[in-house]
Amino acid sequence: MQETVIVLDFGAQYSQLIARRVREHNVYCEILPFSASLDKILLPGLKGIILSGGPASVYAKGAPRIDKKIFFTGVPVLGICYGMQLGALLLGGKVSSAPSREYGKTNLKVTDKTGLLKGLPNEMTVWMSHGDQVSRMSSDFKGIARTANSPYAAAYHKRLPFWGVQFHPEVTHTPLGKKVFKNFLYNICKCSGNWQMASYAKETIKKVREEVGNKKVICGLSGGIDSSVAAVLINKAIGKNLTCIFVDNGLLRQDEKEEVKNNIARHFKLKLIVVDAVQSFVTKLKGVTDPEKKRHIIGHEFISVFNQTAKKLGKVDYLVQGTLYPDVIESVSAWGGPTAKIKSHHNVGGLPKNMPFKLIEPLKYLFKDEVREIARVLGFPKRIINRQPFPGPGLGVRIVGEVTAERLAVLRKADAIVREEIEAYQSITRNPPPTGGLPINRVSPKRSGAGQLRLWQYFAVLLPISSVGVMGDERTYENTAVIRAVESTDGMTADWARLPYELVTTISSRITSEVRGINRVVFDITSKPPSTIEWE
Ligand code: XMP
Repeated sequence: MQETVIVLDFGAQYSQLIARRVREHNVYCEILPFSASLDKILLPGLKGIILSGGPASVYAKGAPRIDKKIFFTGVPVLGICYGMQLGALLLGGKVSSAPSREYGKTNLKVTDKTGLLKGLPNEMTVWMSHGDQVSRMSSDFKGIARTANSPYAAAYHKRLPFWGVQFHPEVTHTPLGKKVFKNFLYNICKCSGNWQMASYAKETIKKVREEVGNKKVICGLSGGIDSSVAAVLINKAIGKNLTCIFVDNGLLRQDEKEEVKNNIARHFKLKLIVVDAVQSFVTKLKGVTDPEKKRHIIGHEFISVFNQTAKKLGKVDYLVQGTLYPDVIESVSAWGGPTAKIKSHHNVGGLPKNMPFKLIEPLKYLFKDEVREIARVLGFPKRIINRQPFPGPGLGVRIVGEVTAERLAVLRKADAIVREEIEAYQSITRNPPPTGGLPINRVSPKRSGAGQLRLWQYFAVLLPISSVGVMGDERTYENTAVIRAVESTDGMTADWARLPYELVTTISSRITSEVRGINRVVFDITSKPPSTIEWE
């Protein structure tokens, strides 16, 4: 029987991350709304329940609550932040406003290393984000960790299998968070960890084959890892009835179209149609500066291209998209719950409501690194597996303000330089030349002393800000470009990458001397949260 852990979602920004952390330990995990009935939760194979965080205060009018019986089923329950507060409250504790809102990295003192905190150091960094906290526990509870502001930063119930943490073990800002999940899953829930991506791929192929039968399917293929994995899975399920469509929307990076065409021809046996739609995208975006409007226009335009292309293929019933879990959660709360909308990812919220196709989204419950794992299982070449993510709306979301053909050309050149220099730096760090063989103008990792860069994304952004500069003896009044580079494992949280000064210096001087229209380059030093990775 498949072992399952259920996350009950109280509207946390990071519920999906919790699911991801559980699956990372080879335990299947599903998310249900907090209001799910006990029958729905108590599935065969259920090994544990996790109560997510959430934006509400447990005392607020209409704050999400659960049936107290959940703590008495014998199945272990872990409450995170709001989930802990709710559990403590329902089981006789008191929650109140913290003396000061605790937000950000905080030092946790572990006072009892049993169960959930087994094997952890006496002190560790954790990520806090709460206004309320458990201020008094009933005598049934035992505190096992505290911070300067939270007397009960972690606790357990002495008679019931309920554990709670005030901090967020699911975000990478809690470096030892994985161990907390491991303890919950293996020490407390007694999972054996038998869930794997290979079985997910097999199941998906089978399900799609059953659902689609002999009908025709088109797939929007961008050449990125998500849509490529989605296309290859569907191709394995239905073969010749799948046609892939690559849209040149004018929002692509330098040389991207040729690269994608070559990759698809060389590595995947997919039926591919390439559509040139540059003109229509750029015309529709004329004069639009609002980021959400831009996303919607791009989403609609994609569907219109798919629609026109599909008409030439006869009756097409389905459209495949490589939508991932984070796209879903950041577009809308997946469950219509209270999660705040961050932005409309083009392949979710940006699509028109009355589409002529049914959607197939085989990766909708997966995170990027899980998709990479499937790609490995499917035998994708490393270069494609490690290709950096590129958003569906492309450079459209990396030009802040109006998107025009001229601004696209400027950004494309600046972006190519950022990528070229960082990739050159990475390849040098991987294969240092014996002596002095570095190309002129490229930085030496030895000199910079920095280790190898492990970047999730690195690109340029174009701002609608002109400022005065001086070039030769001339005054200039031109645009600003941003270097954005982040480290992340899933795109849900990210740290700005500490690129060596020499590397950013090279990028900056190349951009200002080679790209007409840019006279200032800045480096983004914000992480996610509080920023996002893209600028919009
Ligand atoms: P943000 O900017 O929200 O991005 O921190 C998180 C990750 O998602 C990518 N992204 C998108 N991917 N369609 C996509 O397929 C989109 O509309 C989209 N918007 C952002 C972004 O590049 C980052 O990796």
